[in-house]
Amino acid sequence: MAVERTFAMLKPGVLPRRLVGEVIIRIEQKGFHIISMKMITMSRELAETHYKEHRGKPFFESLIEYMISGPVITMVLERENAIPALRKLAGATDPDMADPGTIRGDLGIVTGKNLIHASDSAESADREIQLFFTEEDINVWEDGNGPWL
Ligand code: RTP
Ligand code: MG
Repeated sequence: MAVERTFAMLKPGVLPRRLVGEVIIRIEQKGFHIISMKMITMSRELAETHYKEHRGKPFFESLIEYMISGPVITMVLERENAIPALRKLAGATDPDMADPGTIRGDLGIVTGKNLIHASDSAESADREIQLFFTEEDINVWEDGNGPWL
């Protein structure tokens, strides 16, 4: 399995619900390396570009309104199998269908106000990382010789 990078975003509901630590600890404990992290408030244009595959769908407007309603925390994560592993950790789109043990399954309440975004493919991960980060923002680090290796 190859080491790969994925993109995660803690959505605007996370800060008001005081869940930043709770979500990040799950990402850390599952072995992802956080190699970049940035808090931003997205413009409408940036949010629409990020979610451009959903333009025209019935939930698009309300999704964009939610995504620009407050700050988000964006991250580049590195790990073997990072893209499917983060999707699994995030859980199904509908939090009521998401398995217990997943971020959405344990903490999510409303589909339209999901707590986390995770890239859904290698192409999406590349596009989304480039949309939010430059190569100079990336800080690769090594595990050392911990007992988990
Ligand atoms: P995300 O992109 O945010 O990681 O979520 P996802 O892949 O699990 O789901 P996606 O289909 O990409 O949808 C993006 C966000 O739009 C809202 N949504 N509402 N049927 C609906 O009402 C519906 N479908 C999607 C969700 O907030 C979802 O996170
Ligand atoms: Mg998606």
